[in-house]
Amino acid sequence: TQLGLADNYGRVATDLRVSLTDRCNLRCTYCMPEEGLDWLAKPELLTDDEVVRLVTVAVTHLGVDEIRFTGGEPLLRRGIVDIVARTSQLRPRPQVSLTTNGIGLGRQAEALRQAGLDRVNVSLDTVRVDTFQQLTRRDRLKDVLAGLEAAHNAGLTPVKVNAVLMRGVNDDQAAELLQFCLDHQYELRFIEQMPLDAQHGWNRDTMITADEILGRLGERFGLAPVDAATRGSAPAESFTVRGGRQTVGIIASVTRPFCGDCDRVRLTADGQVRDCLFARTESDLRTPLRAGADDAELADRWRRALRGKLPGHGIADPSFLQPARPMSAIGG
Ligand code: GTP
Ligand code: 5AD
Ligand code: SF4
Repeated sequence: TQLGLADNYGRVATDLRVSLTDRCNLRCTYCMPEEGLDWLAKPELLTDDEVVRLVTVAVTHLGVDEIRFTGGEPLLRRGIVDIVARTSQLRPRPQVSLTTNGIGLGRQAEALRQAGLDRVNVSLDTVRVDTFQQLTRRDRLKDVLAGLEAAHNAGLTPVKVNAVLMRGVNDDQAAELLQFCLDHQYELRFIEQMPLDAQHGWNRDTMITADEILGRLGERFGLAPVDAATRGSAPAESFTVRGGRQTVGIIASVTRPFCGDCDRVRLTADGQVRDCLFARTESDLRTPLRAGADDAELADRWRRALRGKLPGHGIADPSFLQPARPMSAIGG
């Protein structure tokens, strides 16, 4: 549509991912160094009111109908319940979801549900205590499992679990993780690691590919592809397991890119629009917002921000450069 967030390749962004903080209480080795990163300073962060204002512009002026809150770890944001409540009260009501590491869901799942949250995706790469400690550098597996259970009980369903496999660390645990998720009715998706880590340690040759994951799962489970026509713009390809109703997904961003169907746009915790995970430029909405711009002007700037969106992420190009902002500050 002319009034929505259209780019020059016929795609329209209707799914907004809002990062609420760049901080995290885990230190996954594929994401962040032990010492953490240079966090955004408080004055740089959008306030709760500013987040809600921009989300409101997206929903009421730009045709955005899905809002996902991300981080860092979004549950570290004090105002999260209030932000969710005000977002779910917008009309037309957007779908409201959250991507979290699960720590804190045990305490907050019910309040989030009451506030209007529809569903959650939880990152969990292993169900073994020792592997969890090795991968996240923290001893919090129990909290994550409690968080998953609380989300399920609160009806934040389908609860999806995101897993990244790391060679020599947890790549032998794919089937075990799937069995756990099947038993608990969580929808598991394996994600190919992308070159977005702060340490620039990504290596195509050691990355666990979709084919490799499917091969390993196939040894233990009968998998059948779900009709591709039902995928839409979802990043995951789905497979039914053992002829049953439950599914497992693969997000093959690297070996089977889905950029042609992308319907996403991102807002960073400091108020910058990113037209792609891998965008090399951002459009500043915080400055005009703080200077008193009206909704029409903010919407107009946002529309212009999408016009430069590239057709694909270009990971395979020899000239590929990782974006300056790491995954943890974009929100995935
Ligand atoms: P739903 O399918 O709506 O449940 O959410 P999602 O899978 O898009 O969101 P989630 O935050 O759970 O992300 C799962 C993985 O998909 C993360 O590794 C994201 O970085 C990745 N992902 C999400 N959106 C995109 C995208 O536009 N491009 C690419 N390449 N990866 C994405
Ligand atoms: N590549 C792919 N996925 C990643 N995640 C974090 N870093 C990467 C990466 N480099 C995942 C997390 C979380 C989701 C938002 O992104 O595991 O589930
Ligand atoms: Fe935190 Fe997510 Fe990075 Fe893990 S992957 S350190 S949970 S931001």
